[in-house]
Amino acid sequence: MNKQILVTGGTGFIGSHTVVELQNSGYDVVIVDNLSNSKVEVLDKIKEISGIRPKFEQFDLTDRQKVKDFFQKYSGIEAIIHFAASKAVGESVEKPLMYYNNNLNSLMNIMESMMEFNVSNLVFSSSCTVYGQPDRLPVTEQTPRKEAESPYGNTKTICEDIIRDTIKAYPSLKGIALRYFNPIGAHATAKIGELPLGVPNNLIPFLTQTVAGIRPELSVFGDDYNTADGSAIRDYIHVVDLAKAHVVAIERLLNNRNKENYEYFNVGTGNGVSVLEIIKSFERATGEKVPHKIVARRAGDIEKIYADTSFANEELGWKAESTLDETLLSAWKWQLNI
Ligand code: WQD
Repeated sequence: MNKQILVTGGTGFIGSHTVVELQNSGYDVVIVDNLSNSKVEVLDKIKEISGIRPKFEQFDLTDRQKVKDFFQKYSGIEAIIHFAASKAVGESVEKPLMYYNNNLNSLMNIMESMMEFNVSNLVFSSSCTVYGQPDRLPVTEQTPRKEAESPYGNTKTICEDIIRDTIKAYPSLKGIALRYFNPIGAHATAKIGELPLGVPNNLIPFLTQTVAGIRPELSVFGDDYNTADGSAIRDYIHVVDLAKAHVVAIERLLNNRNKENYEYFNVGTGNGVSVLEIIKSFERATGEKVPHKIVARRAGDIEKIYADTSFANEELGWKAESTLDETLLSAWKWQLNI
């Protein structure tokens, strides 16, 4: 009997890619998603890729009773990967209560049921946003977290602390928080990828929609940063490399290889890349031109961040493998397929 893993938010961008990698590694996956920011058709696409349609339950994780009913029904869950959360930075500034309610209550309901139904292992989807604008780069897991730039970022910081304090109180629980940098790209089959609803906030979907003629021009938010070409720097990681990090994190917990009951890992490439370098790399990888203009900085943006990934490399035995050109080409192939 294959080990059963619950993936919340499993029809989403990172969740769906992680479900495929879990299935490829022989795990049985059950997805819980409220489909507020994803489509049920993703389940069929996952089946087209892996040959297995994951079990699926649609409900909202802020509904405490429904979470308990779920664990009553699925008694063999060995571990949970918790992706389900609202994640739009700008929207969180306009609707902070929605973000605190959704992101915090979903996690607390999950953790209450973990204790009630003896599920010990949790991998949590965290974010480099907890570091704010670091004073020193690259950031390590010991880099102090800073005041979040948005309610969204603050929910990630608070969720990390909810997990920390709950595990401290109930040492039978074990957790790993994966602090993502900037996930981009899509599965090589172009059957799953990033599906932003409405106008994309994030750089890559806006860029690919611009090249596809859906948007007239890409605005580069600022070229007056203290960087080589003046545009802001991030650590862009292929979503499949990120998905694979979740599988090794789950295996670390299932095989009791964790050294602490609660561990954090930076999951990035370790390379800082500017917006203008992204544009050049995309044009080189695809042969397409990216119509763009320089505009003012976007409020709330930090200047520069990229990861020190040595802890994940050494402890998880995981390293991002895709080149930036390959990653951007996968994003373009996905755009052409939707
Ligand atoms: C990347 C760079 C922009 C759009 C956010 C969240 C983070 C995570 C990923 C959820 C920045 C520039 C962007 C555009 C641009 N989200 N940009 N023109 O802001 O680094 O991170 O999304 O987990 O938590 O904070 O990602 O893709 O929005 O921006 O110039 O049209 O691209 O200024 O420098 P960001 P992003």
